[in-house]
Amino acid sequence: MTLVPGLDILALARAGRYGVGAFNTNNMETTQAILETADEARSPVIVALSEGALSYGGKQLVDIVKVMGSEVTVPVSVHLDHGSSYESCLRALRHGFTSVMIDKSHEDEETNIAETRRVVAAAHAVGITVEAEIGRLGGIEEHVVVAEEEAILTKPDEAERFMARSGADYLAVAIGTSHGANKGKGRPFIDHDRIVEIAARIDHPLVMHGASGVPREIVARLNRAGGTLKDATGIHEDDVSRAVTEGIAKINTDTDLRLAFTARVREVLSAKPGEFDPRKILGPAREEMKAVIRSRMELFGSVGKA
Ligand code: G3H
Ligand code: 13P
Ligand code: ZN
Repeated sequence: MTLVPGLDILALARAGRYGVGAFNTNNMETTQAILETADEARSPVIVALSEGALSYGGKQLVDIVKVMGSEVTVPVSVHLDHGSSYESCLRALRHGFTSVMIDKSHEDEETNIAETRRVVAAAHAVGITVEAEIGRLGGIEEHVVVAEEEAILTKPDEAERFMARSGADYLAVAIGTSHGANKGKGRPFIDHDRIVEIAARIDHPLVMHGASGVPREIVARLNRAGGTLKDATGIHEDDVSRAVTEGIAKINTDTDLRLAFTARVREVLSAKPGEFDPRKILGPAREEMKAVIRSRMELFGSVGKA
């Protein structure tokens, strides 16, 4: 089916109180894993490409994602993750993306609003929807000083003002998560009260970046097979499912796929030192990613929603 704008998927998710995964891809195998799993699970899905993914895979990667995405029978949106400029978002629109993120969260509020408005005007003119972000992503300790927490996390009144003035369609919020495989000591603190307060003020779908669970057993396998990942921690599954009931509708996952891919590649290579057929190395890695994606979709509640 034709690729759909991100908001078509996310408005239903927010109203239906389930989450939809935005999974990052960089290559054919990851794209297949995302889309085959979505099809099998009857789940809507968002395939995310960062600017790094675009410079790695170029137009060929975009073509792979678009062709595969329109062949499956569940709603798929192709999304630019963390677009850093108006020009970058415009290039994504030209490439046929159906959702773009403009990330000016590191700028002051007025600049973030002004830059987001420009992207919204261009994207909406061609029927594409837009994600923006306010606040700073980054782990916080449970008993951090309030002033420090206020400096980085998304403020509910600012979120309301920002969405009214920017015209963005969905909002990435800073509520204690962070990117990568080291999200803080122990179980990262997620500010659920803050999600509830933001969701009470705006009806837009909310987005959780840095949501990977960093499964302990996958990290252990990766390290047993020669990896050196230390202090790896992720977001607890209970925090993700609770956040979904509170208004989070889009959940970004990249790290968990990278870990699954690398763990399996390492295992295959160490178990079969004579193997040099890429299909026998990347094929199992694709299966490993599919299992992770399936369990994420079950956690988000999107299985059977398409
Ligand atoms: O949020 C960032 C994503 O995990 C993409 O990472 O810029 O290394 O492709 P990347
Ligand atoms: P993780 O690093 O937790 O997978 O987050 C990915 C992300 O937020 C992509 O935008
Ligand atoms: Zn992100």
